[in-house]
Amino acid sequence: MAKQQNDKSEMMEKIISLCKRRGFVFPNSEIYGGLQGFYDYGPLGVEMKNNIKKLWWDEMRKNHQNVVGIDGAIITHPWVWEASGHVDNFTDPLVDCKKCKKRFRADFLLEDNKLEESGAADEDLIKTLTKVLKGKKCPECGGQLTTPRRFNLLVEASLGVVEGQKMTTYLRGEACQNIYLNYQNVLDSLYLKIPFGIIQIGKAFRNEITPKQFLFRQREFEQWDLQWFVNPKEMKKWYDYWKKARFDWYQKLINHQSKIRLRQHSSDELAHYAKVAFDIEYETPFGWKEWEGIHWRGDWDLSRHGKFAKKDFTYTDQVTGEKFLPWIVETSGGVDRTFLFLLFDAYKEEKNKDGMRVVLSLNPKVAPFKVAVFPLLANKPELIKQAKKIYDDLKKCFNVAWDDRGNIGKRYHSQDEIGTPWCVTVDFDTLKDKMVTVRNRDTMKQERVGIDKLLDFFQTKLS
Ligand code: GAP
Repeated sequence: MAKQQNDKSEMMEKIISLCKRRGFVFPNSEIYGGLQGFYDYGPLGVEMKNNIKKLWWDEMRKNHQNVVGIDGAIITHPWVWEASGHVDNFTDPLVDCKKCKKRFRADFLLEDNKLEESGAADEDLIKTLTKVLKGKKCPECGGQLTTPRRFNLLVEASLGVVEGQKMTTYLRGEACQNIYLNYQNVLDSLYLKIPFGIIQIGKAFRNEITPKQFLFRQREFEQWDLQWFVNPKEMKKWYDYWKKARFDWYQKLINHQSKIRLRQHSSDELAHYAKVAFDIEYETPFGWKEWEGIHWRGDWDLSRHGKFAKKDFTYTDQVTGEKFLPWIVETSGGVDRTFLFLLFDAYKEEKNKDGMRVVLSLNPKVAPFKVAVFPLLANKPELIKQAKKIYDDLKKCFNVAWDDRGNIGKRYHSQDEIGTPWCVTVDFDTLKDKMVTVRNRDTMKQERVGIDKLLDFFQTKLS
């Protein structure tokens, strides 16, 4: 058991180290000692993250009917967060140590972390935690802990320059609010008919009490959301449709099908806006964790914004004349969690005759580079000239890496570690037969391909 635990935390350490060493993810403000819960994506990380976002966007926009996108501002009117319920309900339970003054998320102090994902702490939860944590000491210094209390997760922002006239608002706690704010604008400007959906990828900010597990729980992160507006009579049908569609999509992205599942929220776990919720979860080295939530938001959002903004969002069906307030199915996932979970899913260490290799078996569409091009020797101008020509031609279509350091074996290892699916080597035969060696990351098999066929070869593999 202890060994298993060690292996798991070792795996996390390896991923964090690989991310830093190879330019995927860096700790934010590292030269100043870092800032907890914030990370920066490096050159390879930003390529991979953009690939992931493009895959999601294309899936939602092109593979489903009636879905359009927006890109909303991070700051909105402060009343948005009153109407959304976040000012009153978006809380986590918190305890302080009276001795060392450290602060902990109360549910994280439970042995089994059972209440870990409960976004909203209601009074019952506070009562339960007070009971179960009675007598529990500070995990850092053994000091006495305060009783649990609510802590609001919204990050405040102050607008304006004149003292006394500043407006306090919030960085958005969930990206989706812009979609409700623009529901009527989108409907009217595109003449859409219900059912239809609005998608967005955008940053969200939460004052997480204990940011942890690398990209998993950050204070600044990115979400992808679909808000699907329906006739209430069709809510169940569409909820089931999106639950299946989203689960199927994640399945296609990963190698280990046994590590993905759907889990229904119990009633005490539900966020304040959801009547029903299923999480798509992935089995990470630190247990099954939420990847995306499929939420039955019903009329919560449009009725609350209607009330606070004094607007009527009633929809009239042009064919039947039926009037109703649209209900909402939400699918809300984390871009950074997808990034992290795909790394967990792809990471492999393999022993072979040349020793050990680390491979990221990423879906080629997700990998930062699709192809790497090498001249066999770095000191032969004729090989370099031909390899550069291939590199420049392929670069017009894909993200391509160039490497002429060390020997071919080392270059393969270096590309395997960052998930490059194919490596192309230009050798002396190439100069005669106009063919190159293409080596496959996963099988390590090599084949000869004509230079004039290379683009087609990779395009077919990637399609
Ligand atoms: N609009 C609904 C909503 O925000 P959520 O379950 O709180 O629902 C959606 O968040 C997704 O955002 C989660 O499934 C997760 O992937 C991601 N997420 C939430 N909190 C996060 C955090 N602190 N760090 C990284 N990703 C987070």
